[in-house]
Amino acid sequence: MPAEILDGRSIAAAIRQELKDRITALEGAVPGLAVLVIGDDPAAQSYLRGIARGCEAVGIYNETVRLPQDATQKSLEDAISRLNSDTRFHGIILQLPLPKHLNSLRAQGAVSPDKDVDGTNPVNSGKLLLGEETFFPSTAYGVKELLVRSGHSPEGRHVVICGRSNIVGKPLAGILVQKRPGANATVTICHTGTRNLPEITRSADILVAAIGRPRAITADMVREGAVVVDVGVNQVEDTATGKPRLVGDVDFDAVAEKAVAITPVPGGTGPVTTAMLLTNTVVAAEKLLAR
Ligand SMILES: NC(=O)c1ccc[n+]([C@@H]2O[C@H](COP(=O)([O-])OP(=O)(O)OC[C@H]3O[C@@H](n4cnc5c(N)ncnc54)[C@H](OP(=O)(O)O)[C@@H]3O)[C@@H](O)[C@H]2O)c1
Repeated sequence: MPAEILDGRSIAAAIRQELKDRITALEGAVPGLAVLVIGDDPAAQSYLRGIARGCEAVGIYNETVRLPQDATQKSLEDAISRLNSDTRFHGIILQLPLPKHLNSLRAQGAVSPDKDVDGTNPVNSGKLLLGEETFFPSTAYGVKELLVRSGHSPEGRHVVICGRSNIVGKPLAGILVQKRPGANATVTICHTGTRNLPEITRSADILVAAIGRPRAITADMVREGAVVVDVGVNQVEDTATGKPRLVGDVDFDAVAEKAVAITPVPGGTGPVTTAMLLTNTVVAAEKLLAR
């Protein structure tokens, strides 16, 4: 039987509708999200456009603050400090990766933990691991929401995550391992140092690919009946048209023959990532406005 296609766009639309209702309940107060961008990375543009569209759709005030590619650490931290005290903004995100001459960890640590809606301040990363209430990094949060909302809760299942980045693999493992509803999974993280990778991926009830390499997950690596979540976004040349197109990390057509459910790329985890960033911004506004 062909796999169920997990439609991230419709899940994101449902989340946006919920956010509209929560924003209405703020009685005229408008949540605000500032996106701090250093330089002009063309790869980031579509994500930034998605954020701007999402903010507009739900009623979040959104501003992109740009610094030049050669910005100093001090000018970056000064900009963060101004945003921390700007009451129009309840959420701040720093577009990553930063240019190599800048210290990301210091910059992430400079974002007020109360406005850190991408959950990258080390204070919030620590809280995530401890199971304390905090802002989850939006992609990892989105994978959890996508699974729960599509009826494939990770509870009690073996989740194998391929990729251990600080923005996807590690926080996702930290979220899913907690003894909480919608989590409480048995989690394995794989990476380039993993031996016998296909043997481990075949033991997954839920397989998450966050690698950044087209077709890294092939059908022989997937158990019959597994749920497959593809976080990867890779630009490849379409052999038929010669034009660039986006693909994930999973060999979609072949894996869809074995999986019970699978996310497409595009239209899978990407829209839900943006929806969770908007969710975190509304939560931040609710908390800051209640003070
Ligand atoms: N959908 C979304 O919203 C969203 C958001 C963020 C990122 N992404 C996409 O997700 C992908 C991953 O992003 P990232 O920032 O997490 O990437 P990253 O920082 O480059 O990390 C990639 C991870 O994959 C591991 N890896 C590489 N090759 C592997 C292999 N053959 N088998 C198993 N593990 C392997 C690496 O292992 P080592 O640690 O050993 O090097 C590393 O931990 C990218 O395509 C990115 O564009 C999507």
